[in-house]
Amino acid sequence: MTRSVIEFFDTSTRPTTAMREAMSAAVVGDDVYGTDPTVRELEERAAELLGMPAALFTPSGTMANLIALRVHARSGHAVVADADTHLLRAETGGIAAVGGLMPTPVAAPGGILDVDAVEAALQPGDDHVPPVGLVWLENTHNRAGGTITDVATTGRLAAVCRQAQVPLHVDGARLLHAALELDVDPAALTDGADSVMLAFSKGLGAPVGSVVAGDEQFVTRARRVRKMLGGGMRQAGVIAAAALVALDDGYSHLADDHRRARQLAQRLAQVPGVVATPDPPPTNMVFVDVAGTGRSARGLADALATAGFSVSTPAATTLRFVLHRDVSDDDVDTVARELATAVAPPRG
Ligand SMILES: Cc1ncc(COP(=O)(O)O)c(C=O)c1O
Repeated sequence: MTRSVIEFFDTSTRPTTAMREAMSAAVVGDDVYGTDPTVRELEERAAELLGMPAALFTPSGTMANLIALRVHARSGHAVVADADTHLLRAETGGIAAVGGLMPTPVAAPGGILDVDAVEAALQPGDDHVPPVGLVWLENTHNRAGGTITDVATTGRLAAVCRQAQVPLHVDGARLLHAALELDVDPAALTDGADSVMLAFSKGLGAPVGSVVAGDEQFVTRARRVRKMLGGGMRQAGVIAAAALVALDDGYSHLADDHRRARQLAQRLAQVPGVVATPDPPPTNMVFVDVAGTGRSARGLADALATAGFSVSTPAATTLRFVLHRDVSDDDVDTVARELATAVAPPRG
Protein backbone atom coordinates (compact mmCIF):
# COMPACT_ATOMS: atom_id res chain seq x y z
CA MET A 1 0.00 0.00 0.00
CA THR A 2 1.53 3.33 -1.01
CA ARG A 3 1.30 6.27 1.35
CA SER A 4 0.20 9.60 -0.04
CA VAL A 5 1.96 11.53 2.74
CA ILE A 6 5.37 10.68 4.16
CA GLU A 7 5.25 11.46 7.86
CA PHE A 8 8.57 12.31 9.50
CA PHE A 9 7.35 11.09 12.90
CA ASP A 10 8.53 7.76 14.29
CA THR A 11 5.12 7.31 15.90
CA SER A 12 3.56 7.12 12.43
CA THR A 13 4.86 3.65 11.43
CA ARG A 14 2.13 1.31 10.26
CA PRO A 15 2.13 -2.28 11.58
CA THR A 16 3.92 -4.74 9.31
CA THR A 17 2.16 -7.73 7.76
CA ALA A 18 3.88 -9.98 10.32
CA MET A 19 2.54 -7.79 13.12
CA ARG A 20 -1.00 -7.87 11.76
CA GLU A 21 -0.83 -11.66 11.41
CA ALA A 22 0.51 -12.06 14.94
CA MET A 23 -2.27 -9.81 16.24
CA SER A 24 -4.97 -11.91 14.63
CA ALA A 25 -3.44 -15.16 15.90
CA ALA A 26 -2.65 -13.93 19.44
CA VAL A 27 -3.58 -16.17 22.36
CA VAL A 28 -5.24 -13.87 24.88
CA GLY A 29 -6.59 -13.80 28.44
CA ASP A 30 -7.67 -11.06 30.82
CA ASP A 31 -4.58 -9.02 31.56
CA VAL A 32 -6.24 -7.17 34.45
CA TYR A 33 -6.08 -10.56 36.20
CA GLY A 34 -2.62 -11.26 34.79
CA THR A 35 -3.87 -14.17 32.69
CA ASP A 36 -2.99 -12.97 29.21
CA PRO A 37 -0.07 -15.18 28.13
CA THR A 38 0.97 -12.91 25.26
CA VAL A 39 1.23 -9.88 27.53
CA ARG A 40 3.15 -11.92 30.11
CA GLU A 41 5.59 -13.06 27.46
CA LEU A 42 6.09 -9.50 26.25
CA GLU A 43 6.68 -8.24 29.79
CA GLU A 44 9.23 -10.98 30.48
CA ARG A 45 11.08 -10.37 27.22
CA ALA A 46 11.12 -6.61 27.76
CA ALA A 47 12.34 -6.94 31.35
CA GLU A 48 15.20 -9.14 30.21
CA LEU A 49 16.13 -6.76 27.39
CA LEU A 50 16.17 -3.82 29.79
CA GLY A 51 18.09 -5.62 32.52
CA MET A 52 15.26 -5.31 35.04
CA PRO A 53 13.59 -8.05 37.12
CA ALA A 54 10.06 -7.28 35.88
CA ALA A 55 8.03 -5.09 33.50
CA LEU A 56 4.47 -3.89 32.99
CA PHE A 57 2.78 -3.32 29.63
CA THR A 58 1.07 0.06 29.27
CA PRO A 59 -1.03 1.65 26.52
CA SER A 60 1.42 4.54 26.10
CA GLY A 61 4.77 5.95 27.11
CA THR A 62 3.01 8.83 28.80
CA MET A 63 1.14 6.43 31.07
CA ALA A 64 4.30 4.45 31.80
CA ASN A 65 6.04 7.68 32.85
CA LEU A 66 3.06 8.75 34.95
CA ILE A 67 3.10 5.39 36.70
CA ALA A 68 6.81 5.81 37.51
CA LEU A 69 6.10 9.26 38.96
CA ARG A 70 3.28 7.94 41.16
CA VAL A 71 5.14 4.87 42.36
CA HIS A 72 8.40 6.62 43.23
CA ALA A 73 7.28 10.01 44.54
CA ARG A 74 4.68 11.40 46.94
CA SER A 75 2.49 14.43 46.29
CA GLY A 76 4.51 17.53 47.21
CA HIS A 77 7.84 16.01 46.23
CA ALA A 78 10.12 17.58 43.64
CA VAL A 79 11.26 15.82 40.46
CA VAL A 80 14.72 16.80 39.23
CA ALA A 81 14.67 16.90 35.44
CA ASP A 82 15.88 18.80 32.41
CA ALA A 83 13.29 21.49 31.56
CA ASP A 84 13.13 20.26 27.96
CA THR A 85 12.17 16.67 28.75
CA HIS A 86 9.14 15.16 27.09
CA LEU A 87 7.76 14.83 30.64
CA LEU A 88 7.75 18.60 31.18
CA ARG A 89 7.06 19.71 27.61
CA ALA A 90 4.64 17.21 26.15
CA GLU A 91 2.82 15.10 28.74
CA THR A 92 -0.01 17.56 29.40
CA GLY A 93 1.21 18.49 32.86
CA GLY A 94 0.41 15.04 34.27
CA ILE A 95 3.34 15.48 36.64
CA ALA A 96 1.37 18.23 38.39
CA ALA A 97 -2.22 17.24 37.70
CA VAL A 98 -1.93 13.54 38.50
CA GLY A 99 1.37 13.34 40.35
CA GLY A 100 0.99 16.45 42.54
CA LEU A 101 4.71 16.89 41.95
CA MET A 102 6.91 19.91 41.39
CA PRO A 103 9.49 19.97 38.62
CA THR A 104 12.95 21.17 39.66
CA PRO A 105 14.73 21.92 36.39
CA VAL A 106 18.51 21.47 36.26
CA ALA A 107 21.12 22.20 33.61
CA ALA A 108 21.33 19.66 30.81
CA PRO A 109 23.42 20.96 27.90
CA GLY A 110 22.43 19.13 24.73
CA GLY A 111 19.90 17.11 26.73
CA ILE A 112 22.60 15.46 28.88
CA LEU A 113 21.98 16.04 32.59
CA ASP A 114 24.81 17.85 34.34
CA VAL A 115 25.63 15.37 37.09
CA ASP A 116 27.06 18.06 39.39
CA ALA A 117 23.87 20.09 39.01
CA VAL A 118 21.80 17.01 39.86
CA GLU A 119 23.98 16.33 42.89
CA ALA A 120 23.52 19.93 44.06
CA ALA A 121 19.74 19.66 43.60
CA LEU A 122 19.75 16.54 45.75
CA GLN A 123 21.28 18.26 48.76
CA PRO A 124 18.76 18.31 51.60
CA GLY A 125 17.16 21.75 51.94
CA ASP A 126 15.34 23.40 54.82
CA ASP A 127 11.58 23.80 55.23
CA HIS A 128 11.39 26.21 52.30
CA VAL A 129 11.97 23.53 49.66
CA PRO A 130 10.18 20.28 48.82
CA PRO A 131 12.11 17.03 49.28
CA VAL A 132 13.26 15.47 46.01
CA GLY A 133 11.31 12.32 45.24
CA LEU A 134 12.77 11.35 41.87
CA VAL A 135 15.46 12.12 39.29
CA TRP A 136 14.46 11.93 35.61
CA LEU A 137 16.73 11.01 32.72
CA GLU A 138 15.49 11.00 29.10
CA ASN A 139 17.62 8.83 26.79
CA THR A 140 17.69 9.49 23.90
CA HIS A 141 16.60 13.06 24.42
CA ASN A 142 13.82 14.06 22.06
CA ARG A 143 13.86 17.89 22.01
CA ALA A 144 17.64 18.05 22.14
CA GLY A 145 17.71 16.18 18.81
CA GLY A 146 17.93 12.52 19.78
CA THR A 147 21.06 13.00 21.88
CA ILE A 148 22.52 10.13 23.87
CA THR A 149 23.43 9.88 27.55
CA ASP A 150 26.28 7.37 27.69
CA VAL A 151 26.91 4.54 30.13
CA ALA A 152 29.45 6.46 32.22
CA THR A 153 27.15 9.45 32.72
CA THR A 154 24.21 7.18 33.56
CA GLY A 155 26.42 5.43 36.12
CA ARG A 156 27.48 8.72 37.71
CA LEU A 157 23.86 9.84 37.90
CA ALA A 158 22.85 6.55 39.47
CA ALA A 159 25.64 6.92 42.02
CA VAL A 160 24.59 10.41 43.14
CA CYS A 161 20.97 9.26 43.33
CA ARG A 162 21.93 6.22 45.41
CA GLN A 163 24.01 8.42 47.71
CA ALA A 164 20.99 10.71 48.24
CA GLN A 165 18.61 7.72 48.45
CA VAL A 166 16.48 9.16 45.66
CA PRO A 167 15.26 6.88 42.84
CA LEU A 168 16.28 7.39 39.21
CA HIS A 169 13.83 6.85 36.34
CA VAL A 170 14.93 6.54 32.72
CA ASP A 171 12.48 7.71 30.07
CA GLY A 172 13.89 5.36 27.47
CA ALA A 173 11.17 5.76 24.85
CA ARG A 174 14.09 5.49 22.39
CA LEU A 175 16.63 3.73 24.61
CA LEU A 176 17.40 1.14 21.94
CA HIS A 177 18.52 3.88 19.56
CA ALA A 178 21.06 4.93 22.19
CA ALA A 179 22.17 1.35 22.86
CA LEU A 180 22.60 0.66 19.16
CA GLU A 181 24.61 3.79 18.52
CA LEU A 182 26.85 3.21 21.56
CA ASP A 183 27.09 -0.50 20.70
CA VAL A 184 26.21 -1.50 24.27
CA ASP A 185 23.64 -3.78 25.84
CA PRO A 186 20.47 -1.74 26.63
CA ALA A 187 20.80 -2.98 30.22
CA ALA A 188 24.07 -1.02 30.51
CA LEU A 189 21.99 2.14 30.10
CA THR A 190 19.66 1.23 32.96
CA ASP A 191 22.35 -0.01 35.33
CA GLY A 192 21.72 1.60 38.73
CA ALA A 193 18.36 3.08 37.67
CA ASP A 194 15.20 2.14 39.57
CA SER A 195 12.85 2.09 36.60
CA VAL A 196 12.83 2.53 32.84
CA MET A 197 10.21 3.11 30.17
CA LEU A 198 10.60 1.73 26.65
CA ALA A 199 8.17 2.48 23.79
CA PHE A 200 7.29 -0.16 21.20
CA SER A 201 5.27 2.32 19.13
CA LYS A 202 8.14 4.47 17.89
CA GLY A 203 11.23 3.22 16.04
CA LEU A 204 10.32 -0.39 16.80
CA GLY A 205 7.23 0.05 14.66
CA ALA A 206 4.48 -1.54 16.78
CA PRO A 207 1.11 0.20 16.64
CA VAL A 208 0.57 0.62 20.40
CA GLY A 209 2.25 0.20 23.73
CA SER A 210 5.17 0.73 26.06
CA VAL A 211 6.54 -0.96 29.14
CA VAL A 212 7.71 0.36 32.46
CA ALA A 213 10.25 -1.93 34.11
CA GLY A 214 11.81 -2.15 37.55
CA ASP A 215 12.07 -4.58 40.45
CA GLU A 216 9.21 -6.85 41.47
CA GLN A 217 8.00 -4.50 44.19
CA PHE A 218 8.01 -1.55 41.76
CA VAL A 219 6.00 -3.51 39.19
CA THR A 220 3.47 -4.71 41.78
CA ARG A 221 2.82 -1.10 42.75
CA ALA A 222 2.92 0.01 39.12
CA ARG A 223 0.19 -2.49 38.24
CA ARG A 224 -2.13 -0.92 40.82
CA VAL A 225 -1.39 2.62 39.60
CA ARG A 226 -1.99 1.54 36.00
CA LYS A 227 -5.43 0.28 37.05
CA MET A 228 -6.15 3.54 38.86
CA LEU A 229 -5.25 5.50 35.73
CA GLY A 230 -7.62 3.40 33.65
CA GLY A 231 -4.83 1.53 31.90
CA GLY A 232 -5.92 -1.98 32.89
CA MET A 233 -6.48 -3.64 29.52
CA ARG A 234 -8.34 -6.90 29.06
CA GLN A 235 -7.42 -9.02 26.00
CA ALA A 236 -4.33 -6.88 25.53
CA GLY A 237 -2.43 -9.79 23.99
CA VAL A 238 -3.85 -8.60 20.67
CA ILE A 239 -1.61 -5.53 20.80
CA ALA A 240 1.21 -7.13 22.80
CA ALA A 241 1.56 -9.61 19.92
CA ALA A 242 2.62 -6.81 17.57
CA ALA A 243 5.16 -5.57 20.12
CA LEU A 244 6.55 -9.11 20.37
CA VAL A 245 7.07 -9.15 16.61
CA ALA A 246 8.93 -5.85 17.02
CA LEU A 247 11.19 -7.48 19.62
CA ASP A 248 11.68 -10.53 17.39
CA ASP A 249 12.77 -8.21 14.58
CA GLY A 250 15.47 -6.83 16.87
CA TYR A 251 16.62 -3.27 16.60
CA SER A 252 19.64 -3.39 14.33
CA HIS A 253 17.40 -1.93 11.59
CA LEU A 254 17.42 1.34 13.55
CA ALA A 255 20.92 1.82 12.14
CA ASP A 256 19.26 2.58 8.77
CA ASP A 257 17.25 5.36 10.40
CA HIS A 258 20.41 6.80 11.97
CA ARG A 259 22.22 6.64 8.63
CA ARG A 260 19.29 8.32 6.85
CA ALA A 261 19.15 11.02 9.53
CA ARG A 262 22.81 11.87 8.87
CA GLN A 263 22.18 11.77 5.12
CA LEU A 264 19.19 14.09 5.48
CA ALA A 265 21.12 16.52 7.70
CA GLN A 266 23.88 16.69 5.10
CA ARG A 267 21.43 17.32 2.27
CA LEU A 268 19.50 19.96 4.22
CA ALA A 269 22.68 21.74 5.29
CA GLN A 270 23.33 22.41 1.58
CA VAL A 271 20.18 24.54 1.45
CA PRO A 272 21.23 28.17 1.96
CA GLY A 273 20.24 29.44 5.42
CA VAL A 274 19.53 25.99 6.88
CA VAL A 275 21.63 24.69 9.78
CA ALA A 276 21.32 21.23 11.34
CA THR A 277 21.64 21.04 15.14
CA PRO A 278 23.23 18.91 16.42
CA ASP A 279 25.32 18.11 13.35
CA PRO A 280 25.70 15.25 12.66
CA PRO A 281 22.49 13.98 14.25
CA PRO A 282 23.35 11.37 16.92
CA THR A 283 20.38 9.06 16.23
CA ASN A 284 17.15 9.25 14.21
CA MET A 285 16.16 12.90 14.59
CA VAL A 286 17.11 15.86 12.44
CA PHE A 287 16.46 19.32 13.79
CA VAL A 288 17.21 22.21 11.45
CA ASP A 289 17.24 25.89 12.18
CA VAL A 290 15.78 27.79 9.22
CA ALA A 291 16.24 31.33 10.61
CA GLY A 292 18.83 32.08 7.92
CA THR A 293 16.30 31.46 5.14
CA GLY A 294 14.13 34.37 6.25
CA ARG A 295 11.17 31.97 6.29
CA SER A 296 9.21 30.70 9.27
CA ALA A 297 9.32 27.02 10.15
CA ARG A 298 5.52 26.95 9.79
CA GLY A 299 5.66 28.39 6.27
CA LEU A 300 8.25 25.84 5.20
CA ALA A 301 6.37 22.99 6.86
CA ASP A 302 3.26 24.04 4.94
CA ALA A 303 5.24 24.03 1.70
CA LEU A 304 6.55 20.53 2.48
CA ALA A 305 3.00 19.40 3.29
CA THR A 306 1.89 20.52 -0.16
CA ALA A 307 4.66 18.33 -1.57
CA GLY A 308 3.48 15.34 0.50
CA PHE A 309 5.78 15.50 3.52
CA SER A 310 4.65 16.04 7.08
CA VAL A 311 7.17 17.46 9.58
CA SER A 312 6.86 19.18 12.94
CA THR A 313 7.83 22.70 14.00
CA PRO A 314 9.01 22.56 17.62
CA ALA A 315 10.00 26.26 17.52
CA ALA A 316 9.33 29.30 15.32
CA THR A 317 12.43 28.69 13.18
CA THR A 318 12.97 24.96 13.78
CA LEU A 319 11.88 22.03 11.65
CA ARG A 320 12.05 18.50 13.04
CA PHE A 321 12.29 15.35 10.95
CA VAL A 322 12.22 11.94 12.67
CA LEU A 323 13.41 8.95 10.63
CA HIS A 324 11.79 5.52 10.87
CA ARG A 325 11.25 2.33 8.93
CA ASP A 326 8.55 3.79 6.65
CA VAL A 327 10.89 6.50 5.29
CA SER A 328 13.17 5.46 2.41
CA ASP A 329 16.41 6.81 0.95
CA ASP A 330 14.35 8.26 -1.90
CA ASP A 331 12.07 10.05 0.55
CA VAL A 332 15.13 11.61 2.18
CA ASP A 333 16.41 12.85 -1.18
CA THR A 334 13.03 14.15 -2.25
CA VAL A 335 12.20 16.00 0.95
CA ALA A 336 15.61 17.71 0.89
CA ARG A 337 14.98 18.79 -2.70
CA GLU A 338 11.52 20.05 -1.81
CA LEU A 339 12.88 22.11 1.07
CA ALA A 340 15.50 23.65 -1.23
CA THR A 341 12.71 24.55 -3.67
CA ALA A 342 10.56 26.01 -0.91
CA VAL A 343 13.44 28.17 0.34
CA ALA A 344 14.44 29.36 -3.13
CA PRO A 345 11.68 28.73 -5.70
CA PRO A 346 13.02 28.46 -9.25
CA ARG A 347 12.67 31.76 -11.13
CA GLY A 348 10.44 32.23 -14.11
C1 LIG B 1 11.00 10.82 25.10
C2 LIG B 1 9.55 10.50 25.09
N1 LIG B 1 8.97 10.08 26.22
C3 LIG B 1 7.67 9.77 26.28
C4 LIG B 1 6.88 9.86 25.16
C5 LIG B 1 5.40 9.53 25.27
O1 LIG B 1 5.06 8.38 24.58
P1 LIG B 1 3.54 8.15 24.08
O2 LIG B 1 3.36 9.00 22.87
O3 LIG B 1 3.50 6.68 23.79
O4 LIG B 1 2.64 8.54 25.19
C6 LIG B 1 7.43 10.30 23.96
C7 LIG B 1 6.60 10.42 22.74
O5 LIG B 1 7.04 10.78 21.69
C8 LIG B 1 8.80 10.65 23.93
O6 LIG B 1 9.38 11.12 22.82
